[in-house]
Amino acid sequence: MNFTELMLSRRSCRKFTDAKVTESQIEALKQVALCAPTSKNCQSWEFIFVTDAALIEALSKSKSQGAAFLASAPLAVVVVGNTARTDVWVEDASIAATFIQLKAEELGLGSCWVQMRERGTDDGRRATDNIAELLGIPSGYEVECVIAVGHKLHERSPYEVDKLPTEHIHENKF
Ligand SMILES: Cc1cc2nc3c(=O)[nH]c(=O)nc-3n(C[C@H](O)[C@H](O)[C@H](O)COP(=O)(O)O)c2cc1C
Repeated sequence: MNFTELMLSRRSCRKFTDAKVTESQIEALKQVALCAPTSKNCQSWEFIFVTDAALIEALSKSKSQGAAFLASAPLAVVVVGNTARTDVWVEDASIAATFIQLKAEELGLGSCWVQMRERGTDDGRRATDNIAELLGIPSGYEVECVIAVGHKLHERSPYEVDKLPTEHIHENKF
């Protein structure tokens, strides 16, 4: 698959088979995460690769909406930012999360971004605090998102070049 085909093929996957993500696949995901560019090369990101089913289940409850499906994923990559290193840790973390999603697609795996920053549970707790408590993340770090990764239960149609929302593209001026 060439780069453009990869970009067109990546669709969010929220249903996974029971198959595990292999150690070599996890290693490949770790490598691309650590290649992601950061502001002033500050490397503000941290990644927690979670394969423990009980922890993944608990992660799926760390916010009230949009995370339940995570419970069925064999791998959850928690993308964390060091807020003291840079004011743009959100951007740094987001680029790395995207790299992970694209590498997962290249490996033939499915993935989905689960937003955690600015999200929470109905009792008013922040998702990032729930996750920090669960995974022992020290203060000074914030969770951006969790990337769910696993084997796709269904293939989704890729994006089609001639159906892309070209109205969002502007030339020279908005
Ligand atoms: C910043 C961001 C936050 C997202 N948060 C969630 C989420 O919390 N739960 C979820 O199921 N999907 C989440 N998604 C996935 C989007 O719903 C999905 O990318 C979008 O609908 C486009 O579909 P596609 O990924 O198949 O292209 C998020 C995606 C992004 C980029």
